[in-house]
Amino acid sequence: MRKKIVAGNWKMNNNLGETQVLISELKKQTQTTDAEVMIAPTFVNLYHSFELLRNSNIEVIAQNMHFAKNGAFTGEISADMLKSVGISTVILGHSERRAYFNETDETLAKKVDTAIANELRVIFCFGEELQDRRENNHFSLVESQIKNALFHLPEDAWKHIVLAYEPVWAIGTGETASPEQAQEMHAFIRKTIANKYGNSIAEDVTILYGGSCKPSNAKEIFSKEDVDGGLIGGAALNAEDFYAIVNAF
Ligand code: PGA
Repeated sequence: MRKKIVAGNWKMNNNLGETQVLISELKKQTQTTDAEVMIAPTFVNLYHSFELLRNSNIEVIAQNMHFAKNGAFTGEISADMLKSVGISTVILGHSERRAYFNETDETLAKKVDTAIANELRVIFCFGEELQDRRENNHFSLVESQIKNALFHLPEDAWKHIVLAYEPVWAIGTGETASPEQAQEMHAFIRKTIANKYGNSIAEDVTILYGGSCKPSNAKEIFSKEDVDGGLIGGAALNAEDFYAIVNAF
């Protein structure tokens, strides 16, 4: 059975004090669903966040990771470093990483391999730009992003993979994919996985939607058959909004 997940991607927001405040507000919220809840603070606050949330049902996850084991990669963070501070899930391939830090399908394939070799769970992000959708290339683009970074994986690696469809035109713009657009793409993604790996892996993989997901639209988006939760940016920076989304199933 696939899981419901709501993950908050804090991006480059919240210093130490702000992180402490937001976490204490998150701890006051109540949860009415069985969704897994995750937050991704900045690297420097991961360990402190992990300690603050040690006995809670909120998992602390990382926003990125390097593919190398260790070595001369100034400014980078390894899988082993993440694991050593209690992290077991990492977001890879976010569109901001692809757009501003030149992450390609090839580097992402390496990152995915390293994460899986270290038994980290991966939330793998992908999605089309507005231009791709206008030109009706969105399905083939998404298919190639998935194939290039994930289709070399053996079947048993898929238990470590969560997919996050994030149309770039909907991220931080206030514009959301309609529930129907999200469902149409999620069903296509599941079919793409089924064609390569069979129905059972395709049915079990969690597929999140991301892009201006908020309390006012989460319920309708999450009600769609192939949408298993959300990767939340802006709305994850407010505890009440975030939990309204967590409770939107
Ligand atoms: P947003 O970001 O919710 O602010 O659009 C989503 C994301 O980038 O994961």
